[in-house]
Amino acid sequence: MTTTESAVPKKAKVLVVDDDKIVLRAAQEILQREGYQVVAIDDAVEGLAAAKDPSIDLACLDIKMPNLSGMDLLRAFKQTRPDVEVIMMTAFATVETAVEALKAGAYDYLTKPFENIDVLSLAIGRAAEKKALRDRTRVLEQALVAKSQFEDLVGQSAQMLSVFKLVETVSFSTATVLIQGESGTGKELVARAIHFRSPRKDKPFVAVNCSALTDTLLESELFGHVKGSFTGATTNKKGLFEAADGGTIFLDEIGDIPPATQVRLLRVLQEGEVKRVGANETTRVDVRVIAASNVDLMKAKEAGKFREDLFYRLNVITVLLPPLRDRPEDIPLLAHHFLKVYVQKIGKRINGITAGAMEALTCARWVGNVRELENCLERAVVLSSGEQIDVSDLPPEIRNSSRAGGEVEVFSLAHLPYAQAKKLAMRAFERRYLTTLLDKSKGNVSCAARAAGVDRSNFRRLLKQYEVGGRTMDRDDLDDATETSEPPRLDSFNV
Ligand SMILES: Nc1ncnc2c1ncn2[C@@H]1O[C@H](COP(=O)(O)OP(=O)(O)OP(=O)(O)O)[C@@H](O)[C@H]1O
Ligand SMILES: [Mg+2]
Repeated sequence: MTTTESAVPKKAKVLVVDDDKIVLRAAQEILQREGYQVVAIDDAVEGLAAAKDPSIDLACLDIKMPNLSGMDLLRAFKQTRPDVEVIMMTAFATVETAVEALKAGAYDYLTKPFENIDVLSLAIGRAAEKKALRDRTRVLEQALVAKSQFEDLVGQSAQMLSVFKLVETVSFSTATVLIQGESGTGKELVARAIHFRSPRKDKPFVAVNCSALTDTLLESELFGHVKGSFTGATTNKKGLFEAADGGTIFLDEIGDIPPATQVRLLRVLQEGEVKRVGANETTRVDVRVIAASNVDLMKAKEAGKFREDLFYRLNVITVLLPPLRDRPEDIPLLAHHFLKVYVQKIGKRINGITAGAMEALTCARWVGNVRELENCLERAVVLSSGEQIDVSDLPPEIRNSSRAGGEVEVFSLAHLPYAQAKKLAMRAFERRYLTTLLDKSKGNVSCAARAAGVDRSNFRRLLKQYEVGGRTMDRDDLDDATETSEPPRLDSFNV
């Protein structure tokens, strides 16, 4: 198949509107002979109704018609179906009308009677090709959006691989999904991934933060309101459920919705209908609901803060996002991912992360989970003046981190190969040991080195390697110029 052939739809549907029945019949015959499907209409008002037909690809419109001009029809077309290519036809050609037609979005402009039958079929052929190429580009763009939305979700831990699998599976259903996880674990990202992988991907994805609005505002945002239903309701307003019709609504922080809104929400889930605040009638909506919570909703239910019936309605499928500290093997992958993102965004020449920095990143506790790691990498890219992100580019709490509490949790290393886990644990211990020693000696390096049984210059190199102590080192250490640049390790000093 050649490019040109594949670009032209085999059976594009052409709407021809002309009050001149002879021209109409001639156009119909010419186009049908070329293999097009033709809808021929001799009345402009009827033509206007046809402009709403989603299967129309192209249109040929006469300009001068009774009741409604072809120009009005063109404008209506461009409003409702901007993707339809329109060719204008006229027996009274002037430069002004031609310019006006092209400005209003017409693809071409033909003068009647046609010089020969090829004039119309050639113009339609070109317009069909343009439309087909544009449609194809749109499909590709949408596919790309959906793909990148999913590929943004990074992870290689067993826990995240099973999350990805679940996302794949649930995307194709309309079942309600409840995503649970600490703040910053990627709940919204997962919700987006589900939507953009689903058959609803071309329809809206509407995210609502349920904890950010007052009770009244939340109800009116979600379900809409009618004019006068409460102070401030000066017009009728469509709610987000209606706005998301055909698509997905993401109810973030669902645990924070007040009891009255819980009842309304339950009704929407049960009936598939929304009632605007203050309205009597309901509107049918087809919306997939994805909810998220960073509090344990089961516990909220048991404590009587969250309705049991609503909990079960929402919790058809649960996606549990583990905290980042429980999946340290995702950290290097995520760190490189964010490095790439921010290097591109900020425009710097940084091509990696030093082993020391990666070690500190892998050992940190990440209370703010992936969001905190992302912020940390953004900051490091901004601050770094080298070709690689180094320990000194990391915030102090990450730099000195050996899991805040001190000890590396064996549980969180259990997914790593033994050698890697042992190395991380050792490093964390060494950093912690040095920090504690330095604390005990109130920042006096000579004193700390004596207590460790390591000579002062070697001890200083260790501190430097781990970025421990920073500016707290005492003066006589600063003028020690005899050190070697070999990276030291605590166990090489026979302690
Ligand atoms: N697996 C992941 N891969 C890539 N980026 C991620 C991943 N998880 C989270 N992120 C990024 O981390 C940031 C926080 O993610 P997100 O907003 O989805 O978290 P959340 O769980 O909704 O947090 P909160 O409860 O605070 O709303 C976002 O910038 C997101 O892109
Ligand atoms: Mg969120």
